[in-house]
Amino acid sequence: MHNTYWNPDNETETSFSALHEDMETDLVIVGGGLSGLLCAWQLRNSGRQLVVLEKNAFLANNSVRNTGKVCALQLPGVSLSPTAAAEYFRLSLQAVDDFEQLIRQAGIDCGWQRQTAVLWAQSEQGRALIRQQRQFLTDNNAQLLCPPTLPSPLDQGEAIALARQGQLDPFRFQKGLLHALKNKVQLYDQTPVVQIGDHELITEGNYRVRFRQLIIATQFPAAEMKQLYSARLQIRRELIGAFHGGGFQDWYLNSADPDAAFSLRSAGSQHDPVILLAAPPHPLCQHPEDPRQQLQQLQQTLIPETSWHQCWSAQDCFSRDALPLIGNRGHRFLLTGYSGWGYTAAMMASRLIAETILDPGRPLPAFLRSDGRGDLFSRFTAENLLDSARGFLGGRSVPEEKQPHQTGMVVRRQGRRYGVVVIDETTELLVDLTCPHLGCPLHYNAMDQTWDCPCHGSRFTLEGKSLTSPSATDLQHYPAVNSLHPHFK
Ligand SMILES: Cc1cc2nc3c(=O)[nH]c(=O)nc-3n(C[C@H](O)[C@H](O)[C@H](O)COP(=O)(O)OP(=O)(O)OC[C@H]3O[C@@H](n4cnc5c(N)ncnc54)[C@H](O)[C@@H]3O)c2cc1C
Ligand code: FES
Repeated sequence: MHNTYWNPDNETETSFSALHEDMETDLVIVGGGLSGLLCAWQLRNSGRQLVVLEKNAFLANNSVRNTGKVCALQLPGVSLSPTAAAEYFRLSLQAVDDFEQLIRQAGIDCGWQRQTAVLWAQSEQGRALIRQQRQFLTDNNAQLLCPPTLPSPLDQGEAIALARQGQLDPFRFQKGLLHALKNKVQLYDQTPVVQIGDHELITEGNYRVRFRQLIIATQFPAAEMKQLYSARLQIRRELIGAFHGGGFQDWYLNSADPDAAFSLRSAGSQHDPVILLAAPPHPLCQHPEDPRQQLQQLQQTLIPETSWHQCWSAQDCFSRDALPLIGNRGHRFLLTGYSGWGYTAAMMASRLIAETILDPGRPLPAFLRSDGRGDLFSRFTAENLLDSARGFLGGRSVPEEKQPHQTGMVVRRQGRRYGVVVIDETTELLVDLTCPHLGCPLHYNAMDQTWDCPCHGSRFTLEGKSLTSPSATDLQHYPAVNSLHPHFK
C-alpha cells in the first residue's frame, strides 16, 4: 500500500514478537490499532493482566493512515433524541479532553494542537443539516465561534465553527502510545486470532489463550457474536492527498454535504505548509477505478494554488446512524463502527468499556449499544446486503481467452479464480482469489497493489498475506510458480 505523509518510509515496529505459547490471562484485547491500544491505556492500572494480540506489525493499521482530527463537531446526533444527542456530544467533548490528558501524561510528541473545527455545506440538504446542528449546539451551550474567513470557493457556503477541538499526527501518536504501554501490557504482534470462543481463543499458530474477559478491537469485528455485523456495517474507503502550499493554520474543515463529504486540514510546518484533502468515502462496491482523478478534481476546485505531493487510501466501518457500536455479551466486549470519526469514538468507547469492566453494575449507554439498535430492517442494511451480493456475484466469471501475462490478472482454472501478478520475466505471484471470510471474489487494486474484497473490506498483499479484517487468514499462495505450472494446465 502507498506510504502516508505521516510515515513516508513505511516504518513499522520491530521490537515486538509473535505469541509462541499457550497462555492464560485476565483480559485479552484482539487488535492493536487505535481502539485496542486505547482500551489497554484505560485499563493499564486496573490490576488485571492485559494482553494485546495484533495480527500484523504494530503501526500498520488504518488508524495511522487517517487525517488525525480529534473532533466533537460531527453529525450523528441528528438522528438521536435530544437527550441522547446531548449525552453523545458531552461524551465526544470529554474524549477530546481525554486525548490531551493522555498525550501529556504519556509525554507523546505528536504535534497535538487545539484547533477550531469548521462544519461547512453548500447544498440545500447540507445547509439544512448545518442549521439543525447550530441550533443543537446553541441549546447545549457549545463554544461556537464566528467561522473563519474561508478561501474561495468555500466562502460560498454556510458554516459553523466549534472552538478547542484537536489535531495530531496519527503515526507519532500511536507510536508514543505503544511505547507508553510497553511495560504495563503484554503486546504481541504478527499474531492473527483465527477463532474466538467463550473463554478461549486460538491464534494462527494454533496457540490457545484462555481469558476471563475479552475486547474485540479489530475494526470489522473478528467475531460476529450473533450480531450480523456483515449486514450492519459498511466498509468505506477514502483517498487522502497531501498538497504543498495553502494557507490556513488554526482551523480544519469537514463538509456536511451528503454527496461531497470531503475534509481539509493543515499539516507540515510554517516553512513548508501542507494541506491534507480527503475525498468522499465510497462503499467498496462503488469505489472508483481511479480514485486519484476525483481527488485531483477536488484539489483543482478547492485548493488550486497547491501542488501534488502524495496520496494514499484508508478504510473505516460505517454504521447506519454514524454512531459507534459499543457492546458486550457478558465478559466479551466490542467497539467499532466509527464512521470516519475514530479518535473521538474510540476514546469514548474505550472509556465506557473500561468503566463497565471495572464496575459491572454500570451499563453502556443504550443508544450506543451494538445490540437492539433496530438496524436490521433499515434501508442502510438492505443496500449494504445488496452491495455484498453484487460483490459476491461480480467478477466471478473470467473470459477464457485471458491469460496471466499482465499485472493483476484474474484467471479461472478448474472452477476456481486465481490472481496472477507478473513481477518480472521469471517471477509470478499466484494466489487463490476466494475471500476466506465469506467467499466473495477478490479484485485487483491497481493503485495500492493489493487484492481487495468488495464485500466487507478484507485486503491482502500480492503474496496473499492478510492485511485488514475481517479475514484473519492468508490466501492460499503458490510461490515461485508461473503460468506453465501444472496447476494452470
Ligand atoms: C481516509 C480516512 C480519514 C480519517 N480521518 C479521521 C480523522 O481525521 N479523525 C478521526 O477521528 N477519524 C478518522 N478516520 C477514522 C479512523 O481512522 C478509524 O475510525 C479508526 O482508525 C479505526 O480504528 P480501529 O482501531 O477500529 O481500527 P484499526 O486502526 O484498523 O485497528 C484494527 C487492528 O486490528 C487488527 N486486527 C484485525 N483483525 C485481527 C485479528 N483477527 N487478530 C488480531 N488483530 C487483528 C488489525 O491488524 C489492526 O491493527 C478516518 C478514516 C479514513 C478512512
Ligand atoms: S467476504 Fe467478507 S470480507 Fe471478503
